[in-house]
Amino acid sequence: MILPIDPANKLSFKRFIKDGDLVIVYERHDTMKAVKVSEDGVLQNRFGAFKHSEWIGKPFGSKVLSNKGAFVYLLAPTPELWTLVLSHRTQILYIADISFVVMYLEIVPGCLVLESGTGSGSLTTSLARAVASTGHVYTFDFHEQRAASAREDFEKTGLSSLVTVGVRDIQGEGFPDEFCGRADSVFLDLPQPWLAIPSAGKMLKPDGVLCSFSPCIEQVQRSCEALKSQFTDIRTFEVLLRTYEVRQKILESCPVNEGDSIERPPRKRRQGSAEGSNGTECSSSPTVVIRPSGEARGHTGYLTFARLKCFV
Ligand SMILES: C[S@@+](CC[C@H](N)C(=O)[O-])C[C@H]1O[C@@H](n2cnc3c(N)ncnc32)[C@H](O)[C@@H]1O
Repeated sequence: MILPIDPANKLSFKRFIKDGDLVIVYERHDTMKAVKVSEDGVLQNRFGAFKHSEWIGKPFGSKVLSNKGAFVYLLAPTPELWTLVLSHRTQILYIADISFVVMYLEIVPGCLVLESGTGSGSLTTSLARAVASTGHVYTFDFHEQRAASAREDFEKTGLSSLVTVGVRDIQGEGFPDEFCGRADSVFLDLPQPWLAIPSAGKMLKPDGVLCSFSPCIEQVQRSCEALKSQFTDIRTFEVLLRTYEVRQKILESCPVNEGDSIERPPRKRRQGSAEGSNGTECSSSPTVVIRPSGEARGHTGYLTFARLKCFV
């Protein structure tokens, strides 16, 4: 369950793993996997065999051992982790764009949000958490199989009471009339969003906000043209994220003058010698090294936001 809600309907962060729970098995930040716990299940990976029965009753976040003594962590599923482990049926939105979208669309508990296309449900999962427990996300995709797989995922992650997945060509037909004037926000991730913008305008409450995600600037230009008549405060952003690697390294520190010292990476030493070039003692100590990550993601797309004009 992605939302830590206990039977008394309170947010609870003291949770213990049960049979049937979804857990995120964490090896390292780029190696994680979603696993459904079952009493007689076994997770087999390069570190050996991990029996699910030994996980049950442990708090989320626990470190568990394999038959070979290696370990993994069992994390509670969250939208942030789900985005990293879900099966990619389409291109998806990642955390930097998602967090910006949720903030800028002003999504809070109780909101009614319309989305198209659903794709792999990466954004939808965060939208659902943001509107919980009294709001709802209605998401539409014209691809039946994708819509069905998204529904299955929302069942798996325990979000199905907050999300309804519809099959509909939003560019061709627009959003269903039943949502006219009821949506707090609308999100579009479509190849030709300008075709859906007039309908999005009809769905929004006065002062409601729309966001459209497009990978190409030509799509943004056409969308902005379409927005001008009904919307105001039109802005486009590109969210660029810089990730840093945090590692522990052994650095050698040698005193230069009294009280001073310089640090340098470890070098090969003549056996038996622990001296610096000036004959002083050098020491090795673990140090945290932080540097920009080589795998940082660049351009994902442009986010265009606009607010519905109020004609009163
Ligand atoms: C890039 S994916 C959306 C990814 C999604 N934002 C996520 O984070 O997982 C775009 C989706 O739009 C759907 N789509 C394309 N044209 C559509 C249309 N006219 N009406 C409804 N859905 C459409 C596609 O089937 C695809 O699943």
